Amino acid sequence: MLLKKLAITTRTAVLLLANLSLLHSAALAQTIPSLRDTFKKDFGIGTALNNAQINETNPQTTAFIARQFNMATPENIMKSALIHPGWDTYDFEMADKLIAFGKKHDIKINGHTLIWHSQLPAFIRGIHSKDSIQTFFTNHIKTVASRYDGKVFSWDVVNEALNEDGTMRKSVFLQYLGDDFVTEAFRLAQQAAPKTELYYNDYNNEQPKKRAGCIDLIRKIKAAGVRIDGVGIQGHWHVGRIPLKDIEESILQYAALGVKVMFTELDIEVLPRNFQGADVGQRMTANAQSNPYPTALPDSVQTQLAADYEALFKLFLKHKDKITRVTFWGVNDGDSWLNNWPIRGRTSYPLLFDRKDQPKPAFYKVIATVK
Ligand code: G3I
Repeated sequence: MLLKKLAITTRTAVLLLANLSLLHSAALAQTIPSLRDTFKKDFGIGTALNNAQINETNPQTTAFIARQFNMATPENIMKSALIHPGWDTYDFEMADKLIAFGKKHDIKINGHTLIWHSQLPAFIRGIHSKDSIQTFFTNHIKTVASRYDGKVFSWDVVNEALNEDGTMRKSVFLQYLGDDFVTEAFRLAQQAAPKTELYYNDYNNEQPKKRAGCIDLIRKIKAAGVRIDGVGIQGHWHVGRIPLKDIEESILQYAALGVKVMFTELDIEVLPRNFQGADVGQRMTANAQSNPYPTALPDSVQTQLAADYEALFKLFLKHKDKITRVTFWGVNDGDSWLNNWPIRGRTSYPLLFDRKDQPKPAFYKVIATVK
């Protein structure tokens, strides 16, 4: 009897302590500066959101997101494979939840993405005619963009249509619809979503050759009398190797075309990789050196990461008149896609918050860039 009582008391004490520690970290989260408030006069601060975050499975996470970010991009749920799984079937459940999430927490949503060669619905593989690809392309843009017009703030209308040398990527859209598919996607989006900003989004498009291809695309869209409001530079970079000069040159050149400039998927990889960019089709084989920091990031790398983020944000602030948004690709290190790409199951540290939402040195450096 006494033993049973003791066990119950111990369990209660453990639960109480766990709750206290939850309360403690929740209270701590409220004391750290807010990114969205810090940069509110400069540009929007965004994050990518996954299913659990959109479903608000953890109230502390929800409060944390609402305090730190005023813009959000769905990491996966608006991609065509998920939102348009069958020829005549759409699944709007998660996207609708995301819209409600944005409304509730005063967070603007960037739709991602209407036309992308990756994460296409499985039925596309069985299509081998121009007519059918054209029908999918038109129906998809019309249906999805019109449903969310006025509900999302903006769309990444076309994502990653370019190769590294600035030529057009050989996607199913290029193959069947030809070079003009990008302009046509914007034309359809403009008709379906007159109240929504329309963007072209890519990675490595700060690099000179790819940038030149991107500039050609933007000029072509404009020359056709079609609306394009902005260009997204994804910003998947590597620690100690941030191409600041190319980034600055790109901000200037894109802004000179009369479009808004955004950094749309920012993260800084700290793990070894033998190529640059974010081509999800590219993979690496694991070896003994590929996961060097399974338990913690060494101070030297942490310091370099903080210096890189500081330099980036100084540059962003220098050009704040041209930049409208900076979005991180994930809320904290534990959420990042870089834990599973280009090798599965690594431990990466690419963001401003650690796996417990605690600010890293990089966070404080970023906050301190605002005078
Ligand atoms: O949902 C399935 C799950 O049911 C299954 O058990 C599991 C096993 O593999 O896969 C899950 O799907 C994964 C999905 O993420 C959700 O976690 C896919 O395999 C995985 O390929 C997918 O990766 C996404 C990647 O795009 C490919 O579409 C990443 O989360 C997402 O961060 C990444 O985002 C892209 C941007 O959209 C465009 N720019 C590059 C960026 C990084 O690759």
